[in-house]
Amino acid sequence: MIAINDVSVFSGVRTPFYYYDMELFDKTASFAAALSAEYGIKIDYAVKANSDVRMLKKLASMGFGADCVSGNEVLLAYGCGFEPSEIMFAGVGKNDKEIYDALKTGIGSFNCESLEELSVINAMAGHLGVRANVSLRINPNIDAHTHKYVTTGLYENKFGISEHDFDAAVSLIKQSRYLDFKGLQFHIGSQIVRIDDVYALECRRAGDIVSYFENKGLEVRNIDLGGGLGIDYECPDKYPVADFRTWFSVIDSNLPRRKDQTVYVEPGRSMVAQCGSLISRVLYLKKGETKNFLIIDAGMNDLIRPALYGAYHKIENITAFYVRKDDTDDFVYDIAGPVCESSDVFGTGRSLRKSMRGDLIAIRSAGAYGKVMASGYNCKDFAPVVYSDRLSEAPVRIDYFNKNK
Ligand code: LLP
Repeated sequence: MIAINDVSVFSGVRTPFYYYDMELFDKTASFAAALSAEYGIKIDYAVKANSDVRMLKKLASMGFGADCVSGNEVLLAYGCGFEPSEIMFAGVGKNDKEIYDALKTGIGSFNCESLEELSVINAMAGHLGVRANVSLRINPNIDAHTHKYVTTGLYENKFGISEHDFDAAVSLIKQSRYLDFKGLQFHIGSQIVRIDDVYALECRRAGDIVSYFENKGLEVRNIDLGGGLGIDYECPDKYPVADFRTWFSVIDSNLPRRKDQTVYVEPGRSMVAQCGSLISRVLYLKKGETKNFLIIDAGMNDLIRPALYGAYHKIENITAFYVRKDDTDDFVYDIAGPVCESSDVFGTGRSLRKSMRGDLIAIRSAGAYGKVMASGYNCKDFAPVVYSDRLSEAPVRIDYFNKNK
């Protein structure tokens, strides 16, 4: 069950909202930072997972770097205090403005995803008379054994530079007066749970590719293995902090590296997912011919993961748990939102405490790729954030039955 003292802490709060447990966030960040120091593996937080300003400022102050995927993420990372040299800019489709702005301000590295992008960065750097730090994102053709939509390291995916372009990239970098080569970057997918075999394979393959580039005369100082560490969506309370130790020890044992090389990882989900829940209220119970529907006030516009990937999120009736303690009967429900799409369903056939209009429902593990992927579909409002340590600042709920007419 979500870590709150009592459901009354939410009773006056307008729903739906994202609830961030800042204690768990701090605990996760501190654990990751300690392991980063222990294993000598640097962490660039993947801003796309959750770009909450409070979280970004905290991570910047703890010395993490930032992995960004748009010009606006780069600007946000600057604004939140990340060291410019620790800001990486990845993505297959950096536009001219984004490249121009990043060159003007200076960043740790562009993670280039194609030959053409490399030549555009080279030309733009020449035009501005500056040098660009570049790394090459590689497509290593490794199966991350995860959902098709979050697999990024196979030949069929749009990401990374393929083997047949390696030599041309080496020549371009060697000939250029404007490119400073930093290293190689790999990211093969997200929500990877087969940590041992998938990351071991990635490390061995990365080692081979690093040797290839070094044999061609480019010194690979930075080896970036990307993110992807999976979390436990089914048991968020059993494993609130992701298994960073296994991840780092697999890297440590399988990636050949010299003392003058720096190894990076780019976790996003594993840093923030478990500290977030989407809190919603039951609007209606509806008995269909074959199903019991629980219609809640949050929808796919707030959290699109179930509709987009068929993703599983644990769902809890926290009012029933805290208030109707003696009524422990479970009922089977499909939990659906208000949006006009049949895919606007957070869970089907879920066993939940007997539910009633007005009950609060927690959709767990929603701290990553939740709020950042929200949309304004159906002109719905965007769900605000409520922080565990700033509950008094939460938006207030209006009780329309006790409102003056
Ligand atoms: N580095 C790169 C280059 C990435 O593309 C990503 C995620 C990460 C790091 C962070 O990966 P993580 O540690 O969070 O797995 N919206 C999807 C996930 C998309 C991931 C995109 N790239 C979801 O909700 O599952």
